[in-house]
Amino acid sequence: MSQSVLLLPGDGIGPEIVTEAEKVLRKVNEKFNLGLSFESGLVGGAAIDATGGPLPDETMERAQKVDAILLGAVGSPKWDNLKMELRPEKGLLGLRSGLQLFANLRPAILYPQLASASSLKPEVVSGLDILIVRELTGGIYFGQPRGVRTLENGDRQGFNTYIYSESEIRRIGRVAFEAAQQRNGKLCSVDKANVLEVTVLWREVMNELAQEYPDVELTHMYVDNAAMQLVRAPKQFDVIVTGNMFGDILSDEAAMLTGSIGMLPSASMNAEKQGMFEPCHGSAPDIAGQGIANPLATILSAAMMLRYSLNAEDAALAIEAAVSRVLDQGLRTADIMSPDGRRVSTAEMGEAVLAAL
Ligand code: IPM
Ligand code: MG
Repeated sequence: MSQSVLLLPGDGIGPEIVTEAEKVLRKVNEKFNLGLSFESGLVGGAAIDATGGPLPDETMERAQKVDAILLGAVGSPKWDNLKMELRPEKGLLGLRSGLQLFANLRPAILYPQLASASSLKPEVVSGLDILIVRELTGGIYFGQPRGVRTLENGDRQGFNTYIYSESEIRRIGRVAFEAAQQRNGKLCSVDKANVLEVTVLWREVMNELAQEYPDVELTHMYVDNAAMQLVRAPKQFDVIVTGNMFGDILSDEAAMLTGSIGMLPSASMNAEKQGMFEPCHGSAPDIAGQGIANPLATILSAAMMLRYSLNAEDAALAIEAAVSRVLDQGLRTADIMSPDGRRVSTAEMGEAVLAAL
């Protein structure tokens, strides 16, 4: 059965890192006889320059048809002055919401080879393996009403709406409980139930769901405390489930525990197992075009794509093993450089993964 992949390189370092991941995908496609076909499209600033908007209809139509999407990154200061509706980020948010990719899985795993790259003490982070399950199509990111209005007295007022329905909470909750069952059976739900009603409901629904998953130990934590615990004793966590905005913030924090956000992949899934896979890092416009970006997060995102959307666990494991091997060989891009490492470019890192495959 043939399966299709849409490549959306986007902006900044996006094209460089997606090029390397595409090579890796084509290689495993051959090696494991996966029958994948590839196409590419425009999103973000690249789409704004070519078509006037961050998410052309053509991209959306193709996104709806394919089995999986590999996205690089969107955004750069070049487009920062545009109206909110026209900014590159709207391309990404439009794909998430248009495809109903409500479940965002963001693993934070410390590779033993990179223990010294973390800004935290090795004993605090060694062996770290956390999964953040972030709700991705609701909450304050999408709640209505939103905007900036001018009051009668001339004072301007900005507003957004933090809103979750029970069904939205339940479906992300199920993803998180099931992930915890596959892992160490611990789930921490992060909220601000001491202040925000919407998260009082969040907590209630998580407690109801817990009845259905007696093998999972559910705990709750306020988001401010969770931010602190993540740097104090991150290994206390197994799976964390939280809403869109808290998940955005905590996943960047968790990423940094591992030394470099340049290593971390992510998956955004809908109920049909269609997914969009992207590195957790952004478009890094400051280093774009220099050939120094780390392609491993995108290559590992391709592995997640094979695992979660394309039913090719063997190929996913092969890529992950190849990444681990190049780290063993001491190859390092600038972001993960260590005194004993050998500095390589984006393309050299990609080639090394191909060779290790
Ligand atoms: C992320 C990013 C996005 C988000 C931006 C680029 C819109 O920070 O994927 O975490 O806020 O979700
Ligand atoms: Mg973010």
